[in-house]
Amino acid sequence: MTRPVADLLGIDVPIVLGPFGGVSSVALAAAVSNAGGLGSYGLYGYTAERIADTAAQLRAATDRPINLNLWWPTGDEVTVDDVDWDAATAAVAPFYAEAGLDIPPRPDRFLPPFDEQLAALVAARPAVASFVFGVPDAPTVDALHAVGTLVIGTATNVAEAHALAAGGVDAIIASGMEAAGHRVTFMGAAEDSLIGTFALVPQVVDAVDVPVFAAGGVADRRGVAAALALGAAGVVVGSAFLATAESVVPPAHKAALRNVTESGTTLTRAMSGRLARGVENDAVRRLADAGYAPFPAQNMLTGAFRRIAAEQNDASKLSLWAGQAASLATGETAADVFAELAAGF
Ligand SMILES: Cc1cc2nc3c(=O)[nH]c(=O)nc-3n(C[C@H](O)[C@H](O)[C@H](O)COP(=O)(O)O)c2cc1C
Repeated sequence: MTRPVADLLGIDVPIVLGPFGGVSSVALAAAVSNAGGLGSYGLYGYTAERIADTAAQLRAATDRPINLNLWWPTGDEVTVDDVDWDAATAAVAPFYAEAGLDIPPRPDRFLPPFDEQLAALVAARPAVASFVFGVPDAPTVDALHAVGTLVIGTATNVAEAHALAAGGVDAIIASGMEAAGHRVTFMGAAEDSLIGTFALVPQVVDAVDVPVFAAGGVADRRGVAAALALGAAGVVVGSAFLATAESVVPPAHKAALRNVTESGTTLTRAMSGRLARGVENDAVRRLADAGYAPFPAQNMLTGAFRRIAAEQNDASKLSLWAGQAASLATGETAADVFAELAAGF
């Protein structure tokens, strides 16, 4: 069952490193691809120029297949004109003061133009392009297929899986609510699509004809074996790889991933304006109380003080994205984690 999907992707074992928007690592993606899996790199927020540069770095680091990931626009992203800048910055002002930063002026825009990101993605011709938060439209799927790139979509419920299959994707990631990071729902509210991996994967497998990858809560060989038993063709693993030596998150974030208990993560909109799973820290608690701007304004506003927190290795003010099974992983390096996961096949 796993052989055809590995052949489709041109890899040895269908273990996919999850992309990490904002904190992806060329070294980590290359390590997973070089080990025989599929390394991914998250391009969220990247300009076209930075996408081209990153693709070149990845090509220099590995000649194996790589997946590049973008967030499809849902249409509910606020623009700079929609946001009351004074109100939005008032909530984060104490964090800026503590970091010794000035409140930034209203930017020209929150995110690079998506059409420019897409053009750069197509020009990079990765082996695989994956999307979250939507169904890539037909021109995009066609343009990627025309340059030999496979297209993967991400579903948090069965309706989204149907929509992705109808949109012509080559494979679907079924993302259970255990997963670290953003809940990538695009049909209905994220809060209404909190389905666990064990329930979601077989229902998505039954619903679509394309291969399905299980994401969320897979951190060791047992998770892999369970995902395969549920009908998955492969797995997407985030938290377990994020804690390894090749990952670029600060040591404080890696420690949080190692030490978090099964009940130690929470779903919050406070850090970015969109619902995401991570360890509840001081920043989450204070911003939940102070109020927060809609996505992507809040993500930009917290980004400035999160960068300082990363430099200072201060866990209290980072986005400590982590999944419910994060602490199951003990491997020090990407190769350790990969070997443990591969044993599940
Ligand atoms: C810091 C962080 C950033 C993430 N960013 C993205 C992203 O930009 N795009 C995406 O498809 N998934 C993203 N994810 C989800 C992971 O790729 C992966 O699907 C998830 O971590 C799997 O669940 P697990 O952590 O239980 O293994 C992110 C996860 C983390 C921890």
